[in-house]
Amino acid sequence: MIDKIHHIGIAVRSLDEALEFYRDTFGLHLHAQDTIEDQGVKAALLTIGQSEIELLEPTRPDSAVGRFLERKGEGLHHICFQTPDVDGELEALKQKGVELVDQHPRRGIAGMICFLHPKASKGVLVELATPID
Ligand code: CO
Repeated sequence: MIDKIHHIGIAVRSLDEALEFYRDTFGLHLHAQDTIEDQGVKAALLTIGQSEIELLEPTRPDSAVGRFLERKGEGLHHICFQTPDVDGELEALKQKGVELVDQHPRRGIAGMICFLHPKASKGVLVELATPID
């Protein structure tokens, strides 16, 4: 079951500059900020109603977000659907033969997360997340 859009991920070259716009100019609340070293990414989550904006700055050029920036530049990176059961959802998608990036959920800034392959979802990178309190 998918509950809602948890967040929209945006790839940026500088988290500080992006925060100047999304937090300071727009006035969105900065809800969480973290560096996820194994993903090579510095991330910030800003609350927007029941959903969030996730800003992603690569910590190294060979990370997934670093390569994305090189190929496409800054902009929309992924959309994240919230589910109460990321394990069950991922298993069900596997059974249906959906192409995946992650075979198992892992820890991300939004909770336990996984990514589907963009080929599966018409060119849009889709993340699933079950938030952890
Ligand atoms: Co995300």
